[in-house]
Amino acid sequence: MTTPRTDHRYALLARALHWIVAAAIPVQVYLGHAAEREADRDASFRLIQQHYQLGVAIFALMLLRILWRVGHGTPPRPRGEPRWRRLVAVTVHWLLYALILTLPVSGYVMWVWMDAPMDVAGLGELPRLFTPPAGEETGRALAWYIHTFSAWLVVALVAVHVGAALWHQFVQRDHAITSRIL
Ligand code: HEM
Ligand code: HEM
Repeated sequence: MTTPRTDHRYALLARALHWIVAAAIPVQVYLGHAAEREADRDASFRLIQQHYQLGVAIFALMLLRILWRVGHGTPPRPRGEPRWRRLVAVTVHWLLYALILTLPVSGYVMWVWMDAPMDVAGLGELPRLFTPPAGEETGRALAWYIHTFSAWLVVALVAVHVGAALWHQFVQRDHAITSRIL
């Protein structure tokens, strides 16, 4: 049994960003799939534009979150936690960070390739950082594979992550959710 983590709460900003991104990811996955499935071109484009807007917001929040994390670190991990479990937890966390950054980057590559509007919520436009070679679709296809694969991997890792959090909270009873991230 590990010790309860009563004063090991993440900082307010880290907790807020964790839950905002956690709520946004399922919506984002839904919008991506819905856009792909929608047969009507205009309806599909509306969905993918919402996907773009939300994706840019997630990207900005993740950058903020990682900067905060690098600057402030995390609360101490529970004493008595086996090395292998610590390693798995930290690896899953970093993979989630990496994938949630890979998704907007690969999405951006497809977006520029599609010559889609770069406007973000009427606030301004993202720059087009490259010009796709005329008649060449390889880069776009590669970005699509990376994007789709990363999205599935995020879904799988989030399932593992949530399973582990619930196991800690209700089986191990070390209050991982209620006294660390809530
Ligand atoms: C899309 C959904 C989610 C994502 C992407 C996500 C991502 C993350 C990441 C990256 C961390 C590590 C924070 C750090 O050390 O810098 C974390 C911590 C944590 N998350 Fe999530 N999370 C999600 C949903 C959830 C849910 C639904 C729960 C609860 C049921 C949860 C419970 C926790 C807990 C307890 C921690 C602290 C773990 C620890 O420090 O050992 N997360 N989450
Ligand atoms: C931030 C997290 C993101 C997640 C979780 C995500 C997830 C997804 C998913 C699940 C799909 C459907 C793939 C399939 O059906 O096989 C998709 C498609 C797509 N996403 Fe994302 N995405 C994200 C960010 C972005 C961003 C920021 C952009 C644009 C800059 C973007 C552009 C696209 C495009 C263009 C498609 C293809 C849609 C189509 O062909 O109709 N995504 N995304």
